[in-house]
Amino acid sequence: MTMYKPLAILLVLMLLMPTMAQDAEVSPDCLPENLAQQQSTFAEFLTPDFEADSEQAIANLFRLGAAYQEMAIRCGYVPNEPEVNTMLNQALEFASLDVLIAAQSVGDDVEAILVEFEEVFGDPINGQLLYNGLEPVLGGAIVACSGCHENGDVAPLTEGTWTRVNDIRLQQPEFEDYTVTQYLIESIVHPELYLAPDYQNVMPNIYSTQLTTQQLADIVAFLDSQDQLLEED
Ligand code: HEC
Repeated sequence: MTMYKPLAILLVLMLLMPTMAQDAEVSPDCLPENLAQQQSTFAEFLTPDFEADSEQAIANLFRLGAAYQEMAIRCGYVPNEPEVNTMLNQALEFASLDVLIAAQSVGDDVEAILVEFEEVFGDPINGQLLYNGLEPVLGGAIVACSGCHENGDVAPLTEGTWTRVNDIRLQQPEFEDYTVTQYLIESIVHPELYLAPDYQNVMPNIYSTQLTTQQLADIVAFLDSQDQLLEED
């Protein structure tokens, strides 16, 4: 089961953790027999029709996650490990790990990401953890942006990022219509498009496949908080 572990965290636990119910009111739906009844209907979400219609199959998987999330919110119900494993095995029968990860990643369409950002609240604290490699991203990977961005030699300094983008980058004609958020998103999901002066093009072009929309929003929120004054350049 070990290789499924990151996915387990990914698909189920991450969805559940932030929203687990604390209150003790038990609705009738949450009685054990009714819970079991509801869970038996979950099986239909996992129809093995991945070959026939991969989009539908993935959408079903998300409905499954949402159904469990709903149970977590309403009943304080968290699936136990065997249950999670069974679910994952079923999921992996019709979609590979790569496909499941790709389905959850933010992608590289900056316009689409900006639209999604309207619904997502970025958490700068979590963004900082991700940025510093203290919190895993999709597939259990670590991104460790700070490794390159910590001293300004290999990559622009983290400190003052917002100020530098706002005061310097966006003053350039090619970024005329950009917002800081848009610039940051593009820098992360398309690092190949623009090369900051004095630096090499070494930033990995993989983050669009490794971060969820929420994680990207968290990182952007963290970089937005880096509004220190710039040292003279
Ligand atoms: C291997 C080194 C490396 C890693 C790892 C790396 N970057 Fe970068 N990054 C760079 C370099 C070099 C540049 C400047 C060159 C360019 O524009 O591509 C840059 C540019 C940027 C910029 C634009 C900064 C500016 O002043 O215009 C942002 C924002 C950024 N990176 C964010 C990130 C984030 C977020 C991560 C982690 C998810 C990350 N980087 C990981 C090397 C890296």
